[in-house]
Amino acid sequence: MQVVSSIDEMQSLAGEFRKQGKTIGLVPTMGFLHEGHLSLIDLLRDRSDVVILSIFVNSTQFGIGEDLEKYPRDLNHDLELCGERQVDLVFAPEDSQMYPSDYSTFVSEEDIGKGLCGLARPTHFRGVTTVCAKLFNLCMPDFVALGQKDAQQVVVLKKMIADLNFPIEVVVGPIVREPDGLAMSSRNEYLQPRQREGAMVLIQSMQAGKKLVEEKGVTNVERVKSEVMSVLTQSSVVRVNYVEIVDRRTMQVEREVESGRSLIVVAAWLNEVRLIDNLPL
Ligand code: PAJ
Repeated sequence: MQVVSSIDEMQSLAGEFRKQGKTIGLVPTMGFLHEGHLSLIDLLRDRSDVVILSIFVNSTQFGIGEDLEKYPRDLNHDLELCGERQVDLVFAPEDSQMYPSDYSTFVSEEDIGKGLCGLARPTHFRGVTTVCAKLFNLCMPDFVALGQKDAQQVVVLKKMIADLNFPIEVVVGPIVREPDGLAMSSRNEYLQPRQREGAMVLIQSMQAGKKLVEEKGVTNVERVKSEVMSVLTQSSVVRVNYVEIVDRRTMQVEREVESGRSLIVVAAWLNEVRLIDNLPL
């Protein structure tokens, strides 16, 4: 497994792979890898000749007062996991190369990223689209694997890829969960035992909403949302940020629940830790 930190070296290697007719798959991450990240590697191995995993804690997607400094990092362990999972190349660039002090160009998707997480984190998706545009230019992937865990991020990045004509196919991996149902996240690391125990209420609340739709045939969005909300608010450790039912393809809020299209999306704080999750209806 090759480990590359220089952006010039990454770009020339990607160019070489392409010249040799090899297809490239990219898994962009911020590191502190868990099974959710690693499952995305598996999705690309059959599709691409070269699998690249990038590790970069992207400062521009963190807002003021967010957890950039304390975001968990463990490069050596990440490299071990990538080796075991047969990644061909890990790209772990330096902050100073990605964003030199005179850096001044940003890529911003102006519609889908405004709502939901964009309301609580107004500059977040601009950082995500900017760094991904840079990673795409450096790694030149044919395929990019993204996790359904970050449902809005998937739709925003698909839109950027379409709008900016990146010749890239997006492959979306299902949410990987802990045994109690909590969606895996690097941020779960921050949870104190009481919060960790209470965190499973996120999936439980969405399952209660789904049950109403599937077993009682309810299609009224407000009724489903209030069911989800009522489970969430029973928990003393959770502060709800949003509960919505959206069209999974556009992230626009739905008027009626429609099976196969609607998605329950939830964001909540457990102390200072903000978690997101979603469940298809
Ligand atoms: P990060 O949070 O490290 O996640 C990297 C990728 O792993 C994302 O596509 C995310 O959706 C996916 N992922 C995380 N947890 C998952 C889970 N439990 N199941 C399935 N997939 C999961 O998302 C980012 O980094 C950044 O915003 C990034 C796209 C790298 C840009 O900086």
